[in-house]
Order: sequence, then C-alpha cells, then structure tokens
Amino acid sequence: MGFLERVRQKYIADRASGKPVVILGIESSCDETSASVIRDGHEILSNIVSSQIEIHKRFGGVVPEVASRRHVENVNDVVEEALQQAGVTIEDLSAVAVTYGPGLVGALLVGVSWAKGLCWSKGIPMIGVQHIAGHIYANFLSGGMEPPLLALVVSGGHTELVHMPAHGEFEFLGRTRDDAAGEAYDKVGRAMGLPYPGGPQIDRLALEGNPQAYAFPRAWIDERSMDFSFSGLKSAVLNTMHNAEQRGEPWKVEDISASFQAAVVEVLVEKTVRAVHHTGVKNVVVAGGVAANRGLRAALTKRAEEAGFHVHFPRFDLCSDNAAMIAAAAFPMYLQGKFHDLDLNAIASLSLTKWKDTPTISL
Ligand code: KG4
Ligand code: ZN
Repeated sequence: MGFLERVRQKYIADRASGKPVVILGIESSCDETSASVIRDGHEILSNIVSSQIEIHKRFGGVVPEVASRRHVENVNDVVEEALQQAGVTIEDLSAVAVTYGPGLVGALLVGVSWAKGLCWSKGIPMIGVQHIAGHIYANFLSGGMEPPLLALVVSGGHTELVHMPAHGEFEFLGRTRDDAAGEAYDKVGRAMGLPYPGGPQIDRLALEGNPQAYAFPRAWIDERSMDFSFSGLKSAVLNTMHNAEQRGEPWKVEDISASFQAAVVEVLVEKTVRAVHHTGVKNVVVAGGVAANRGLRAALTKRAEEAGFHVHFPRFDLCSDNAAMIAAAAFPMYLQGKFHDLDLNAIASLSLTKWKDTPTISL
C-alpha cells in the first residue's frame, strides 16, 4: 500500500475513534533544534528546545554549516525527550508537523528529512509548516484570539504586518524594506560589543537608560505606509557612537540601548495602529523573537488601551523558535485533512502567502 493510502486509512480511523489529536512538531530552521507534543491544538504536553546559541556566540552569529551538523546530532534525542516527557509513543501520534521554510536550507532539511522518515515508516500524516505562521500560532497556545486578526511579526529575519482573515490565510499589509527589527537589534548590539544575540541584552540595558538621551530617527516612510525601514536607524546609532569615540567622549550603553529601543518600538506601535485603522480589525497578535521585548509589550499594551483594540503576546518562552508553535499551526490543517506528500522539500525563502498555495493532499 502506498504512503498516501496508509495515511488516509490512519486519518479516517483516528477521526472515527474520537481520541485526542496528538501532533509532534519539529523545528530546525535556524539555531534551535526543537520537538514538541501538542494535544488538540493548544495543550502543550512537552516542548524541548536545544539551543545552539552558546556555540554560535563566538562567531557573533549563526554559522549555517555548524547549525546543520548540530541539528543532525541533536534531532533524535530531542524528539525522544519530547515524546517521553509528554508520556506518548509514536503509535499515539495523529500527525507530524515540521518547519520547511523559511530558514537555512541545510538546517531545515534535517527536520524535513527526519519527519519524512518517521511518517513514511509508520504511515503517519505529515504537515509542512511555514515558520512565521508558527510564530503567529504561538499566540493560540496561550489563550490567544480567533481570526480575523492582525499579526505584527517581529523576528530576526522578518518584520511584517499581516492580516489574517481566517486560519491559514494571510495578506501582507506592510513589511520591512531593509533590515528586520531583530536584525537591527543584533547589529546594534554587536556594534556596542554585546554578546550575540543583541536583542535581549539591549532590552535589559534599556530599562536602566534614558530613552531621550539621543534623538534617533523614526522611519515613517509616509503618513499612510505600513512598511518598515530600520537600516537608517541602525546607521544613525553607529554614527553616534563613532562620532563620540572620535571626539573622545564616552557613550553610555544603557542610554544608546534605551534611545534605540524607543525608536524601534514607537514605529512598531504606530504602524500597528495604522493597520488597525486601515482594516477595522481590532484583535492584534504579536509574533517572533522580538515579541519578548519588554519595551514593546508595555508600549503596545498601553496604546491598545488608548486606541480601543486588543493585543495578545505569546508566553515569553514561546516567543523564540520552538516546535510547539509549529505543531499548533498544523492543527487547523489536520482538522481539514490537508497533508503533505513525501516530495515535501525545504524552501529557504518560503513566504507566508506561498504556504497556502503549496500543494497538499486532501483526504
Ligand atoms: O523569531 P526568532 O527566535 O528567530 C527568527 O525566526 O528570526 O527571533 C530572534 C530574534 C533575534 O534577532 C533576537 O535578538 C530577537 O529576536 N530578540 C529580541 C528579544 N528577544 C529576542 N529582540 C528584542 N528584545 C528581546 N527581548
Ligand atoms: Zn523564528
């Protein structure tokens, strides 16, 4: 019997049995190897994250070849630990969800190949998940809201405002024209001599600094645009430090951090307000590593109260890369019986909107 027929028979039997939907998620798009087991789309039974940050720190960023190798070394143990901690066996799994893009292609391939091997050998449905969709779905794991939604996506590689009219449907309202928010944080952090990744360090230092110490630029682009640009801000920060050094004047890392963060946060918050006004959608979720930023959380929460909309952030531990969010994003597809075949491939530049167009088999 072919793979698809085995998957079809398992799906029909599992649905008829009325047992809970148990999805194993696998994430390996960048520098975290993660596996997680989720019950019924939102209940986290386990979420194991093996981070490579310590390894990449000495290079000041992620080295792709090193990342792939570590994923290969880790993936078995991480999945085993996730199953064990969840108290389930492979036989209990309803489906396997795996990130297949965007990300480092060699890193993605480790997770994709592993998922394929398991699904083929056991006849388990496989669902390929777009990584940013996973970040958005992290919100559903901590009592988030139902679509229609707006998502402010702020990660290391992406900064976007997305309209999500229904599960699995995404329309771009705005995106960065140069650096992503997390990327700007990391580059400024690196220039200040902070360890990689700079985002969490700047967030911490900003609490002790004066946000008005430096008047860094805000890139509004024009008064209606929902696009972002952070490279001018990054250059302004670097110039300020450079000029001060040339004049022999000291600069305070806390003040630069606070002033830089104030500029990033103000633009993110106001462009989100624009998106709310533009669409009339009053439920906003925040997604990606920078969603952990305390300055952003405080400012957006306050502004939402003033402007009359709701905002939801993922739990702190679910903001950065993890497999629970990948399994959560796969849940609506599972309910629709939409699965991937064994020709699923890693796609380094897979976009949110392309995810929907990817051919899936419907049972
Ligand atoms: O979403 P993520 O884990 O990986 C990608 O998919 O890119 O995001 C990582 C990014 C890094 O740039 C990191 O510096 C940033 O998120 N980040 C933060 C904070 N925590 C992580 N940026 C600002 N404040 C934070 N607290
Ligand atoms: Zn991510």
